[in-house]
Amino acid sequence: MADNNKYEQFRCKPRLPKFATPKKYNLKLKPDLTACTFSGSVEISLDIVSDTRFIVLNAADLTIDPKSVRFHSPSKGFDEVAVEVELIESDEIAVFEFAKSLPIGLGVLFLSFCGTLNDQMKGFYRSTYEHNGVKKNMAVTQFEPADARRCFPCWDEPACKATFKITLEVPSELVALSNMPVVDEKVEGSLKTVSYQESPIMSTYLVAAVVGVFDYVEDHTSDGIKVRVYCQVGKANQGKFALDVAVKTLGLYKDYFETPYSLPKLDMIAIPDFAAGAMENYGLVTYRETALLYDDKHSAAANKQRVATVVAHELAHQWFGNLVTMEWWTHLWLNEGFATWVSYLAADGIFPEWKIWTQFLDECTEGLRLDGLSESHPIEVEINHAGEIDEIFDAISYRKGASVIRMLQSYLGADVFQRALAKYIKRHACSNAKTEDLWAVLEEESGEPVNKLMNSWTKQKGYPVVSVSLKDNKLEFEQMQFLSSGSAGDGQWVVPITLCCGSYESKKSFLLDKKSQAINDPASRWIKINVDQAGFYRVKYDEHLSAKLRYAVESKSLSAMDRYGILDDSFALSMAGQLPLSSLLTLMGAYREEPEYTVLSNLITVSSKVARIVADADNKLMDHLKMFFINVLQYSAERIGFDPKHGESHLDALLRGELFATLAMLGHEETLKEASKRFQEFLEDRNTPLLPPDIRRAVYVAVMKKVTVSNRAGFISLLKVYRETDLSQEKTRILGALGSCSDPDIVLEVLNFLLTPEVRSQDVVFGLAVSRDGRDVAWNWLKNNWEHISNTWGRGFLITRFVSSIVSPFSSYEKVKEVEEFFATRTKSSIARTLKQSIERVQINAKWVESIRNETNLADCVQELAYRKY
Ligand code: BES
Ligand code: ZN
Repeated sequence: MADNNKYEQFRCKPRLPKFATPKKYNLKLKPDLTACTFSGSVEISLDIVSDTRFIVLNAADLTIDPKSVRFHSPSKGFDEVAVEVELIESDEIAVFEFAKSLPIGLGVLFLSFCGTLNDQMKGFYRSTYEHNGVKKNMAVTQFEPADARRCFPCWDEPACKATFKITLEVPSELVALSNMPVVDEKVEGSLKTVSYQESPIMSTYLVAAVVGVFDYVEDHTSDGIKVRVYCQVGKANQGKFALDVAVKTLGLYKDYFETPYSLPKLDMIAIPDFAAGAMENYGLVTYRETALLYDDKHSAAANKQRVATVVAHELAHQWFGNLVTMEWWTHLWLNEGFATWVSYLAADGIFPEWKIWTQFLDECTEGLRLDGLSESHPIEVEINHAGEIDEIFDAISYRKGASVIRMLQSYLGADVFQRALAKYIKRHACSNAKTEDLWAVLEEESGEPVNKLMNSWTKQKGYPVVSVSLKDNKLEFEQMQFLSSGSAGDGQWVVPITLCCGSYESKKSFLLDKKSQAINDPASRWIKINVDQAGFYRVKYDEHLSAKLRYAVESKSLSAMDRYGILDDSFALSMAGQLPLSSLLTLMGAYREEPEYTVLSNLITVSSKVARIVADADNKLMDHLKMFFINVLQYSAERIGFDPKHGESHLDALLRGELFATLAMLGHEETLKEASKRFQEFLEDRNTPLLPPDIRRAVYVAVMKKVTVSNRAGFISLLKVYRETDLSQEKTRILGALGSCSDPDIVLEVLNFLLTPEVRSQDVVFGLAVSRDGRDVAWNWLKNNWEHISNTWGRGFLITRFVSSIVSPFSSYEKVKEVEEFFATRTKSSIARTLKQSIERVQINAKWVESIRNETNLADCVQELAYRKY
């Protein structure tokens, strides 16, 4: 046993030393699905680039046979077995020491190893399913961000690209898939050896293998790429929608990036146990069932849209991420921000009637929400340790990333932007890139100072609120960092300001690159800044400009995106104590006759959030407040009705679900009654037309609202539906509704149910959103079960959801203290950032509660709104 100090020089480094670079992996894996273990061997062709006796690479949770570690360089007459093989688990590296210096130039490293098919949904893991009534295991890989090292020793960094020649040895009756097409299959007794074509060069986090029993549906693109969707036996029909989206999307991206899809085949597969939503492995994309399968009868419109956007997102990575890969995790947003943005482009191309670019504003909102915390981080974030990577797959990398891309596209123009992206893909294909490489092509194509403009958005956290006021015939603009806490930060940005004045024909724009600037008063009926919400910032209008805009909302003079933006900015300002709640509520009244889905959806979200905070601030106001919200939402509810209309739009179907779920949550009696009636019908007949998928969640929420300890029938029936369905979308719908009950004892039962084997570990997070009355129970439950939770979920990113879902809804300083005390001895690097952010949210809520309590005339205003006659 060598002591670790000997290899101190290689330890605690964010990146591996580069004495050797891998060129090709010849990887053999043999999973044992019964014993849940695997063995393997790998030959890695290396280029030794500097004088060394050591090879240092990544490995974790593996046993390496020390005698198998050999370096061979035939041309140099070198063939040596390592004199020392040391695994340093805390650094997830292996050090191989040789007696002599390795010859510079090409050579091959041989080694064999074994490991466990774990149940942690990362590395090489097992997922369980039933086939013909028998419980079975399948073997699946999930390597991003840094878990290929749990399957085979490798240079597990995105910049260490190499080719992969993979061979799987598996039971002969199983389907075995990998990144590339099969080139050879040999059956010997009960085993078969499947070998796959060598891949183009790629990063280790994109390597994949799946072994199990599956059905598939197949199609091909116009240029002959074979596309398949694999799923559990009997569900092949549910793969057809995703298959169709995939084939169309590949065509779209080929044109947009001016580069064809780079592999001969694309497989997509539904995995029953899957931590993320989906993973873009090169040529073998893995998905949660909910993100890939669509059932004509039992999936909702929201499920359909989710499948389409997830597929479009993962396929975007085949170019942005797989062909051109970020140089290091600091540039993760190049992968995720871009894939998110491009997925809207594809969805819009295939389903123009979804008005998906309006829905994109939800991405901005979520980006702005996280980035309004002082505990946010810059888009380009320093990564010093593999353990820190998981937490940056967050709304900053995805949503702020996508939003600043949209901002830039809108500034430069769509055509220039597309040409530059295509150039970027061609220039860096089969290689790596950094953020500045992208700015470079955009500068070349547009002639604009992109680097200067964008650095302020990607290298510092946060964003500005631009205050606009009319003084002495001048329109004055002033920027200040926006923080949801109401404090002012000291950041400054280069802000692309756009405004339209009284009509969309009259537009102006300029770059605000200092603290403040003024332009001549355009003297118009109304002025909307940040046209179509293309910029990643908030706008605060003076009273006079606000009043004119409220009128413009009511008179429907503004675009849907602008109506959305005015509401969303006002909500954010109100939360930060910069706008009285009464002004926000008055504005919300102007949206009563709003026709557009996305705007209404935001109105619904804002209503729920305001209702929750007011309940904490001043419960006496609640009756009137609920009355007002019900009044506002009822206009649309009556238009849309409980029953789908023949040939209605996708957006109406989406709206129906959200509207009635919120009316149920607000305790709207008619909705509760209607829901209960329909639920009874559904229990009699699961195919009743009275409970179409789009309103199921709403109805389940309504059912749970009525459940108490002495009246458990609805709860019991919902559990029965949960147990009987084999559709995971239905299961998550139910899990998402169970916590809406107001009886704390029932909430506790629900939470305990989550920890039983009946709920897959991937799905527990859906059950954590509990009613306001269940908050304390949930917090105590989290504390009491922390050890178990931390042991079960602590090695993945799902643990962060326990913290954020349960902690952040609170709104008192006492809770801040309690949470801090509890976690003082229990925090670890994988939850540190989320914990700080959740605590900051509680502080923001607490401050918000105070400001609501201190707002004079609020009660009068709410009462007036509640009884307003329309
Ligand atoms: N690359 C990610 C998957 C991933 C996420 C790996 C976190 C490791 C950690 C994938 O492309 C992705 O972004 N998936 C999303 C779905 C997407 C539509 C936003 C997800 O898993 O939620
Ligand atoms: Zn992604």
